[in-house]
Amino acid sequence: MIPTTPIASTSPVDISSEISSRLNLAIKEHLLAAYAPDSTKQLRLFPAQEVCDLIGISHQYLRKATVEGAIPEASEIKHGRRYYTGQEVWELRQLLDARSKTPGRYLPSRREGESLQRIQVMNFKGGSSKSTTCIHLAHYLALQGFRVLCVDLDPQASLSAMCGLQTELDESIDTVYDAITYHDPISMKEVIRETYFPGLSIAPGGLMLSEFEAESAKLNSKQHPFFARLHDAIMSVETDYDVVLIDSPPSLGFITMGGMAAATSVIVPLTPSMLDVASTAQFLKMTSSYMEVIERSGAKLVYDNYRLLVTRDEPVDTPSQTIVAFMRALFQERVMTATSLKSTAISDAAMLQQSIYELNRSDLTRATYDRAKASMDAVGKEVENMVLEAWGRI
Ligand SMILES: Nc1ncnc2c1ncn2[C@@H]1O[C@H](COP(=O)(O)OP(=O)(O)OP(=O)(O)O)[C@@H](O)[C@H]1O
Ligand SMILES: [Mg+2]
Repeated sequence: MIPTTPIASTSPVDISSEISSRLNLAIKEHLLAAYAPDSTKQLRLFPAQEVCDLIGISHQYLRKATVEGAIPEASEIKHGRRYYTGQEVWELRQLLDARSKTPGRYLPSRREGESLQRIQVMNFKGGSSKSTTCIHLAHYLALQGFRVLCVDLDPQASLSAMCGLQTELDESIDTVYDAITYHDPISMKEVIRETYFPGLSIAPGGLMLSEFEAESAKLNSKQHPFFARLHDAIMSVETDYDVVLIDSPPSLGFITMGGMAAATSVIVPLTPSMLDVASTAQFLKMTSSYMEVIERSGAKLVYDNYRLLVTRDEPVDTPSQTIVAFMRALFQERVMTATSLKSTAISDAAMLQQSIYELNRSDLTRATYDRAKASMDAVGKEVENMVLEAWGRI
C-alpha cells in the first residue's frame, strides 16, 4: 500500500526521498496493473488492403500469389476479410522479393557499399517529442521493411517502454550503459533485444546511463575515449541493421555527445512556440561547443543531414504558424518539409505506450486517425528519402 498520510518531516532530504519513494511505488503499481506479468505487448493485425499498400502490390497480386502457393494464406479470416500479423507481413516481403525479377523491389535493406544510417534525435528541451519522433520513425521504417535498431540513451527510458520494456521494473534488463561502461562492458549484441514489432530491435535505456556521465568525467581514456564508445558498440552490430535511431535525454552531456559522434544524421525536433525556439537556440549554441570538444578529442563529425523538425504542429494556430514560417524563411530546407501534427491520436496512443501505427483505425474517429497518421507517414517518408539519398539510390 502506498502511504497517503501527510509527510511529517520538515527535512528537505526526507521530503524528497518520501515523495520519490511514494511516486516510485505508485508507478510500480500502475505499471504492474497495465503490464501484468504474463501480458507482453502485442502488435495488432493488418487488414489485407493495408498490407498491399505497405508492400506496394495490388490486392489481385496478393491473392494470385496466395492461390499459387507462393505465399501463405492470412492467419485470420473474419467475415471474408483477411488479416495478417506483423510477422506475416515481414515474411510476405521476403517471399515476394525472392520471387521478384528485380531483387530488392520489396525489400529495401541496404546493399553492398551502403552504410548503416545512424540518426540521432536530440534537443535538451524536455518534451520536444524526441521519443515520440523516434518510435514513429522506427515503426514507419520497420513497416517499410527496413531493419531498424532503436538506441535509447535516456535514463528515463521512455522509448524502451514504448518498445515493451520496463527497465525500471526489471533490473535484469541490460542497457546501453552495459555496452559502453568503462568497467567490463558487455557486447552490444547481448544488450539488444528484438521487440514484438517485426523488424525493430531495441538497445534499452535505463537509470544506469547516468553513471556514464560520472565515469566519463573520471575515467575517459585515450585508448577508448567517451565519444567512441557508443559508435563502436553500434558498429559492432552493423551488419544486422539498416537504420539506427538514437533517442537522446533532455540534457547535454557525455552520453548525448556519444550519440553525436555515432550519428550520420541529426534531427532536432522543436515545437513551434517562442519559448521552445529560444531554448533550441541555446541548445544549439551549446551543441556547437560540445561538438568542438568531440572534434578536439580526435573525431571528425560529418553528417549527411542536420535538420530541424517541427513537432506538435498546429496548422490552425496563427502564432505557431508565424513561428514555423519564420523558421522556414531563416533556414529553408534545413527545416523538414513534413511536420508532426499535434493530435489527440498521438497523445492517446502514447498513454498506452504505443505509436499511431499500433492503433486500429476503428479505435478512433477516422478523421483524427487519418490526419495524425498522414502526418507521421510524411515525416517517415522524408526520413526514408534521406536514407535512400545517403545510399545514392535517389
Ligand atoms: N504530435 C503529437 N501530438 C500530441 N502529443 C504529442 C505529440 N508528440 C508528442 N506528444 C506528447 O508530448 C509529450 C512529450 O513527448 P516526448 O516524450 O516524445 O518528448 P521528449 O522530447 O522525448 O521528452 P523528454 O525530453 O522528456 O525525453 C508526450 O506526452 C507525448 O505523448
Ligand atoms: Mg524522451
